[in-house]
Amino acid sequence: MSTPGHVPPSQKTPQGHPSGVQRHKGGPEGTPLLEVTALAVGNLVKGIGFEVGKGERVGLIGESGSGKSLTALSIMGLLPDGLRATGLVKLNGRPLLGASERNLSRLRGNEMAMVFQEPMTALNPAMRVGRQVAEPMLVHRTQPDRRAARQAAVALLDAVHLPDPEQTAKAYPHQLSGGQRQRVVLAIALANNPALLICDEPTTALDVTVQAQILDLILAGVSERETALLFITHDLAVVATVCDRVLVMLDGEIVEAGSTHDVLTAPKHEYTQRLLKASDLEAS
Ligand SMILES: Nc1ncnc2c1ncn2[C@@H]1O[C@H](COP(=O)(O)OP(=O)(O)OP(=O)(O)O)[C@@H](O)[C@H]1O
Ligand SMILES: [Mg+2]
Repeated sequence: MSTPGHVPPSQKTPQGHPSGVQRHKGGPEGTPLLEVTALAVGNLVKGIGFEVGKGERVGLIGESGSGKSLTALSIMGLLPDGLRATGLVKLNGRPLLGASERNLSRLRGNEMAMVFQEPMTALNPAMRVGRQVAEPMLVHRTQPDRRAARQAAVALLDAVHLPDPEQTAKAYPHQLSGGQRQRVVLAIALANNPALLICDEPTTALDVTVQAQILDLILAGVSERETALLFITHDLAVVATVCDRVLVMLDGEIVEAGSTHDVLTAPKHEYTQRLLKASDLEAS
């Protein structure tokens, strides 16, 4: 067991061996990792509440426009200009909403990370991918120097099964396929062993044959680190394989929440029932 004692990010110990994956440092024992209370974004997200435990995998499903992405962006402190979140969001007991940009940027890419649908939005087209993977480790000082960060970056590119990671590290994003880019994004997100990973439809933009591979990598990456996962998807089959618990959003509200098994086998809300009927899951 790693010691889950409260460790401020600034005191995170450097990761020793580049390939030695460490578990994130948890918060105080007994506190949920993520606590969301009365979270509202204008009238687009209407005062929702939920928790994500340490290492827990929670699915967030619901129809297009129901507020899933805004929920994720609120947690990350990345809402677009003109939108503001109110309510309470705590990570490891520390409030995120209203935190200064400076404090948030200490957490982003470190204690919490996010993978978006479209990998190009997360990558810098003008920077070699190895450097982009090394960057969060340098910024958050989780590797002692450039050389160590570079080595760790190559190890991470290897861990997400990119071919010839040494060579791939020198490539620019446009030289990679969509699936390879999303592997790079995942490597960046996992670089500092985050306590929380939020994925917003991480495979939707990819070729079907690649989707399952990326999903497997996400799962392997979070299990290895005991990273908690908030996973936004339209795909109930994915929820069934990935998530312990599921939240169902409709029109800015969470209308149903429960264990994946309960929600997918005995949905209570009429909307969830419809969602399930429209999927292939019901047949199985
Ligand atoms: N920058 C913005 N300004 C105003 N309204 C916005 C903005 N971004 C999103 N919205 C609106 O907020 C609502 C929720 O959007 P959100 O992106 O969270 O939906 P979603 O559940 O992620 O949908 P999808 O499944 O299509 O990704 C939508 O009605 C959307 O039009
Ligand atoms: Mg969305």
